[in-house]
Amino acid sequence: MAIHSITRRFGILTAGGDCPGLNAAIRGVCRAAHDRYGMEIIGIKNGFRGLIDEDVKVLKPEDFSGILTRGGTILGSSREKPFGPTEKAEPVNEKVSAIIETYSKLELDCLVVLGGNGTNTTGYRLSREGLNVVGLPKTIDNDIFGTDRTFGFHSALAIGTEAIDRLHTTAESHSRVIVVELMGHKAGWLALYAGVAGGGDVILIPEIPYDIKAIAHHLEKRSKSGKNFSIVVVAEGAMSIEEAGMDKKDRKRYRQEIGLSAGYRIAQEIEERTGLETRATVLGYVQRGGIPSASDRVLATSLGTAAADIMANGKYGRMVALLGNDIGSVDLSIPEGKVRHVPTDHFMIDSAKAVGTCMGE
Ligand code: F6P
Repeated sequence: MAIHSITRRFGILTAGGDCPGLNAAIRGVCRAAHDRYGMEIIGIKNGFRGLIDEDVKVLKPEDFSGILTRGGTILGSSREKPFGPTEKAEPVNEKVSAIIETYSKLELDCLVVLGGNGTNTTGYRLSREGLNVVGLPKTIDNDIFGTDRTFGFHSALAIGTEAIDRLHTTAESHSRVIVVELMGHKAGWLALYAGVAGGGDVILIPEIPYDIKAIAHHLEKRSKSGKNFSIVVVAEGAMSIEEAGMDKKDRKRYRQEIGLSAGYRIAQEIEERTGLETRATVLGYVQRGGIPSASDRVLATSLGTAAADIMANGKYGRMVALLGNDIGSVDLSIPEGKVRHVPTDHFMIDSAKAVGTCMGE
């Protein structure tokens, strides 16, 4: 017999960039909600777009069986932001009205949103419009306020680290500097962790504007000491001290004019300044694809079942979260419009420096 639940029927969607562990989380939410609490489940296709267009499907146990280890999301995703940019909420518009209409037409008691900053922000803004929402934090960027880790991060970190390991042998064989660009537009968690795990000689993250002269000096010193190769790990959002001094619009224009991503830009500058043969590699979407790591499967499953418990108790307006070593939840307003940056006094930055890594300063 199912345990009594305040929520009888809920909708579930995945939005924003996909990541390993999404299906494990969907399975966690749905299994617990269905088996333990007897809830009915409506799967919403392609993020918030599915709510706008009423593109939905009843999910039965066979739909969420056998998906624990599968990458991507069985529900599909999109970057649809019904309220407009994450940074500032637009007034209620046609898209938001369509979402509210679909929610009530489907007789949902709650909406579960799996996503990053943008998705949880939209979830919170919908809750302010009267919907019952529960958020689940996911992203390879690990940059959501309110949780100590997001699922997807650990899998992407393993991919990034393996790539750096592989680049070491080819860099050494050819006596080259290899610049590897990892994802992370605003926060440098992935580049920092993969850089430390893979023993990068230089690590550049958006939170610490870099001085190209300091990087060139570090690489030249390494070369003179007899090391015939170097690995430079760059977050895609890494910026020079000159770029950091520009306002957002000027920086965007400046980058468009150069037309190269951070990794290529920095590789070019290194070669020009040092004369060392330099190559760049961009990992891109490889970091988001494929099977989740064991750690992400565990985190995604635990957050998923916790979301089902919250719905059963009718404690809406929360985002489930990893808090220390425990699973808990925070108010859904916490991640709204924010990015969890790497603090510049983070122990990992100090650790990286202590083992001789140049952080671009
Ligand atoms: O999922 C977050 C993220 O991986 C960022 O690091 C990256 O900048 C972005 O997604 C790019 O994704 P898309 O091209 O799908 O918008």
